[in-house]
Formats: sequence, structure tokens, C-alpha cells
Amino acid sequence: MSELQIRNLHVSIGENLILKGLDLTVKQGEIHALMGPNGSGKSTLAYTLMGHPSYEVTEGEVLLDGENLLEMEPDQRSHLGLFLAFQYPVAIPGVTVANFLRTAINSHRRAIDPEYKGMPIPEFRKLLKEKMDLLQMDHSFAGRYLNDGFSGGEKKRAEILQLATLEPRFAVLDETDSGLDIDALRTVSEGVNALQGSDLGVLVITHYQRLLNYIKPHYVHVMLGGRVVESGGPDLALHLEERGYDWVREKHAEADPA
Ligand SMILES: Nc1ncnc2c1ncn2[C@@H]1O[C@H](COP(=O)(O)OP(=O)(O)OP(=O)(O)O)[C@@H](O)[C@H]1O
Ligand SMILES: [Mg+2]
Repeated sequence: MSELQIRNLHVSIGENLILKGLDLTVKQGEIHALMGPNGSGKSTLAYTLMGHPSYEVTEGEVLLDGENLLEMEPDQRSHLGLFLAFQYPVAIPGVTVANFLRTAINSHRRAIDPEYKGMPIPEFRKLLKEKMDLLQMDHSFAGRYLNDGFSGGEKKRAEILQLATLEPRFAVLDETDSGLDIDALRTVSEGVNALQGSDLGVLVITHYQRLLNYIKPHYVHVMLGGRVVESGGPDLALHLEERGYDWVREKHAEADPA
């Protein structure tokens, strides 16, 4: 059983220490929801896991099946099965969705077999069509430039299309629900759930309990001041929806001195 372990993680951006001793373990097949007020460090965690160069790890470790993730380049992390869906996906004008995905798949396969010649186009087309149908995406998206002129919801769907095509072992979804209309929220969640059956470990960052009605978490964590300060079951999200974060701030005043 694969495991993503984050221990005592400290991360700074420039002079500012943002993550201050974060602990979290996600096993394959588990869904963890990560909640917490704006600015508590959720996206910072996501970027750090993917190896964004602006985020400096000053202390702690991140292990994927015992291997030190922090020593790896972003592409190696991806090859090892880590996937990040961004809160703000970037546009890549000039690169179509289909080309982007085919390149990503081939790169993954070459990491396993350097002799791999590339996925034959008919096989790739079939795969892409299957995944787009799963997410109820119009097939014309395949020929469009990645995220270029995509609506907010379309970008989020495109992120999940990448997730579905690459089939990672661990996925971090950073506010994938924001900007989705009610139907899209259901479709995207069903897409994630379909993958979860195949032993995907998921860390879903969200502000709203609503998403968790569709993607049902096994565990819910609350971040405050750069640390996970509360962990519990799905009830914790319901409790937050009802009562907000004040009680968390009061209970953990030391984590977020105002
Ligand atoms: N490049 C940067 N330079 C300086 N400070 C930064 C930078 N990026 C993030 N921060 C700060 O780090 C803190 C955590 O930001 P982060 O984006 O991780 O929060 P978040 O929990 O994802 O919030 P939200 O719920 O609003 O998405 C914030 O105070 C933010 O201003
Ligand atoms: Mg964020």
C-alpha cells in the first residue's frame, strides 16, 4: 500500500515562513479533505508537494513510499504518481489539450521504459474520448489550446481530464470545486470517484462542505497558521459549515496569533 507522508514540514516563500510544522499522511485509496481559512497555507502545501521553485523547504520531510520527494524534480514527482490540480490553472497557448496529454502520457511511460516509442494515435484518441465522455466534456476541447479562453469551470474540468488520463497514485485537488456550476460539480466529482475506485489517494482542498457530499472524505483536516490543527471524520466538515472557524482559532490561538 502506497503512502504519502508529510512530516513537520516548514516552508518559506522569500522571507516569510508559511508552513510551520505540518503533518499529514495520505494512503492510497483514502480521501482526505483539507479545509482552513484563506491564507492558512493550503495552496502553499500543494505547490510545495509539486516542487514549485519559489517554495523553500526549511525543515521536515515528504516521503512517497519512503522515498524523499523533496529531492526530486517536479517531473520525477509526477512520474512517481503525484498529481496536482491547480487552484488557478495556467493557459498554454499553442499547445492543444490533446497534445499536452499525449506528451504527458508518453513522458510517464518513458520514465518506466526509456525505449517506449509513444502511444499510437488511434489508441490515444480512444483513451481521450473515453475520459472526456466520463467527464461529459465536448470532444472539441481536445483540439483547443490548453486553458486558453476556457471558462473557469472548463479549466477545472480540464484539470480533472488530466487526472483521469494520467491515473496517478496521489492527487492533490486545490479548490477544484470553485467556479463549477452545480451540474459540473457533480460530473467532476463522479469523475474523481470513478478514479478513486482504482486506488487513488486524494487530498481535496476545499472551502465548502458541498463538494464533500459528492466526494466523500474518510478524513477531514483543518489548517490554521501553516499547520494542521484539527483532524477528524466527515462530521468535522459539517461542524465547520455550521460554526465557521472561530472556535478553531480560539482553540489554537498559538497557531495563528492575530
Ligand atoms: N509568493 C508569495 N509571496 C509572499 N507571500 C505569499 C506568496 N504566496 C503565498 N503567500 C502567503 O502565504 C500565505 C498562505 O497562502 P496560500 O495560498 O497557501 O493560502 P490558502 O490556504 O491556499 O488560501 P485560500 O483559501 O485563499 O486559497 C498567505 O498569507 C499568502 O499571502
Ligand atoms: Mg489556496
